[in-house]
Amino acid sequence: MTSTLLTNIGELVTNDPHREGLLGTIEAAALVVEGDRVAWVGHATDAPAADAVVDAGGRAVLPGFVDSHSHVVFAGDRAQEFAARMSGTPYAAGGIRTTVAATRAATDEQLLSHAARLVQEMLRQGTTTVEIKSGYGLSVRDEARSLAVARQLTEQTTFLGAHVVPQEHADDPAGYVDLVTGPMLESCAPHARWIDAFCERGAFDADQARAVLDAGEAAGLRGRLHANQLGPGPGVRLACERGLLAVDHCTYLDDADVDALRDSGTIATLLPGVEFSTRQPYPDARRLLDAGVRVALASDCNPGSCFTSSIPLCVALAVREMGLTPAEAVHAVTATAAASLDLDGADGVGRLVPGRRADLVLLDAPSHVHLAYRPGVPLVAGVWQRGRPVL
Ligand code: NIG
Ligand code: FE
Repeated sequence: MTSTLLTNIGELVTNDPHREGLLGTIEAAALVVEGDRVAWVGHATDAPAADAVVDAGGRAVLPGFVDSHSHVVFAGDRAQEFAARMSGTPYAAGGIRTTVAATRAATDEQLLSHAARLVQEMLRQGTTTVEIKSGYGLSVRDEARSLAVARQLTEQTTFLGAHVVPQEHADDPAGYVDLVTGPMLESCAPHARWIDAFCERGAFDADQARAVLDAGEAAGLRGRLHANQLGPGPGVRLACERGLLAVDHCTYLDDADVDALRDSGTIATLLPGVEFSTRQPYPDARRLLDAGVRVALASDCNPGSCFTSSIPLCVALAVREMGLTPAEAVHAVTATAAASLDLDGADGVGRLVPGRRADLVLLDAPSHVHLAYRPGVPLVAGVWQRGRPVL
């Protein structure tokens, strides 16, 4: 197995809890990659020899970003909906049906090439692990082929047949839930690791979301939820009651929601690009962290509520608008996002410690702070995925 020594790293973010500070940073650091794994990290002066040497030029190296929430399998464009929103039209979940029509009309090849382009766009911005949901097919055939496409791009695939009730079932939402929990789940489960539902007024209520999670878990999938995005509601508490690993959006939270998140350990995944792109109020992430809630950040890349693929943008927004420190925001897109996908084990991602997957980002900057300090600037100078330079 060949080894590579990456040395002269100005700041190495390890996220190693045994090191100092939230990010376990090491200055004047080095890291050895062996095969697809991290083999060693420490001070450059102590580094072992390796087959090859790469000089980081005093710049910062971080774990590759983990985008734990995206909807990149779709066709069509909703730029006009965005423009109308910027002139005062509020965001409504009903726009999803526009994308459903375009997605159903697209071929598998079109869906794959479009989604692959977005995943490549993510990679260029430092994202080395991505979760991808279905949810724009909403028929047995179209959900199954959406997931088959997603599965070609990532192992972290999520069945979201319960995104909204499609037009043809508008008069029979109960019948649609039966379809999702029956034949659709049966066709989709082989391509998915996770099951999700949009628990929100205008989408699915708590009983319907519960039925979807019950069926998915019985089929061997693990649950996560979209909740409390457009207003207060029961979704966050439902996720906590069930002990789900993550509940996403969490824009409108009351005290009972915050207590439930703290007590259950369910990770609150905040999606600041959505508030940016819909002009909704940002959630108060400071309140969550101060209460002891675990917070992850993700892009939610989708054609409606937020069409960004940029984790660095999410970091900058979370720092500027939601009260996170730069270190907390970086931790949220690496270690905590990995935990929200159950990828925080000894051989997982999100931390640069021996044994973890060698997914890492080289910034054209001396420290992680620059991700928030220099918003909108393309700072990603290099990306390694499974030990191989890919950018
Ligand atoms: O996560 N919340 C529901 N689904 C997406 C938006 C989908 C759309 O508008 O197309 C979201 O924001
Ligand atoms: Fe989403």
